[in-house]
Amino acid sequence: MRVSPFCFIGSRELAMVFNPSIRYEAGCLKIDDVDIESVVNDVGTPLYVYSLKRLTANYQRIRKAFAPLSARLHFSIKANGNLDVLRALKRAGAGFDCVSGGEIYRALMAGAKGRDIVFAGVGKTRDEIRYAIHNGIGWINVENIGELEHIDSIAAEYDSDNLRVALRLNPEVTAATHPYMATGHGAAKFGLTADVIRELLRRQERYPQIDFSGIHIHIGSQLGDSEATLAALDKLLALVKPWPQIKKINLGGGLPVAYRFEETAPSLEALAEELAPRLKDYTVLLEPGRSVVADAGLLVAEVLYVKRQADQVFAVIDASMAELMRPALYGAHHEIVPLREADEESITTQVVGPVCESADVLARDRQLPPLQPGDKVALMTAGAYGMTMASNYNARPRPAEVVVAEDGMSWRVSRRRETVEDMLKGETSIRWS
Ligand code: LLP
Repeated sequence: MRVSPFCFIGSRELAMVFNPSIRYEAGCLKIDDVDIESVVNDVGTPLYVYSLKRLTANYQRIRKAFAPLSARLHFSIKANGNLDVLRALKRAGAGFDCVSGGEIYRALMAGAKGRDIVFAGVGKTRDEIRYAIHNGIGWINVENIGELEHIDSIAAEYDSDNLRVALRLNPEVTAATHPYMATGHGAAKFGLTADVIRELLRRQERYPQIDFSGIHIHIGSQLGDSEATLAALDKLLALVKPWPQIKKINLGGGLPVAYRFEETAPSLEALAEELAPRLKDYTVLLEPGRSVVADAGLLVAEVLYVKRQADQVFAVIDASMAELMRPALYGAHHEIVPLREADEESITTQVVGPVCESADVLARDRQLPPLQPGDKVALMTAGAYGMTMASNYNARPRPAEVVVAEDGMSWRVSRRRETVEDMLKGETSIRWS
């Protein structure tokens, strides 16, 4: 993956290319063949923009890298639930990984069949389980004995006696990632211990409707290296060895992306090569989210004010932690660039949002050309866990989402900007007294 921002196009022109879909051309930031400023002029800010071309290319790249494992990819909707994004991935052949009835509904609305969906999550309600089974769900990843009992009894109502479940192993392995994104250490709420899984597999006949033919692990997101993944996989393989009926191994998500210009994401091919010999007797399922959509999306914002205070320059933009929560929640780094390339000398800038929280800093201590009110900026690599984690905090309507089609030229508003009226829907207008 190319992450260095500088490269030469033609013989003399120096351009910044972030990835094959996002680059400056003649000083303007473009997504595929679309000038982002022209979209902003129509739709306003804050605004998410996604390249369907880039995200389908990412999907194909991951599929190709994991071809030696014949891995089936289920896109993790929690990373980006936009219907146009889901439709594009479905056209490319993806299944979906859902963690709620709401996500299953989204996948179905995008045209997926129940059998192409895996349903995961630590706290599935009975209604959600019923909804999943009613829609012919492909797999349920199980994290709790009580949940297994619900699944078995609901499956009986539907006369389904071969409902496929994958027990989720907590391998007691700590992944190299942000602590909030690590899920495989023993103290985490996720998965079942090896002992519990052994016990369940020994007593399978207690659950007559269930086909125990899979095992699931997901040790975390934005995984720094393959060491913990391999350690977890080895534990999983040792656990399932006595049960030859277990043929499907779901390795979850976690493939990392480069958030900083100077970073390079680790090679997927190298990871697949390490995994392949261990998994030759199994069929493999992956649940990538971030690696498919992160670098296909931008959050575009307008500079509202600039102030110098306490020896710092603050650029207050019209996007905040409500629209992109990752910097406030994880101290995450998103590169930020102006839509118009500038050649003025950069100054250290604090890019902040309007929300009443000191954590509402989108980009800290960045070298940026001096920004003026009215300038537009783009927060990069915001296609994953951006809009899906957006909230209405401070009664801020959620942003619009625009997608650029696979042809690279046509774009449309995929989801309109929320209105203040939308936010009051569902609240009673009748006065209490
Ligand atoms: N499968 C399971 C069971 C998961 O819990 C997750 C992510 C995925 C797949 C997809 O993982 P990915 O390929 O995207 O790493 N909000 C955080 C990330 C939390 C991820 C939660 N689970 C962020 O903004 O970085």
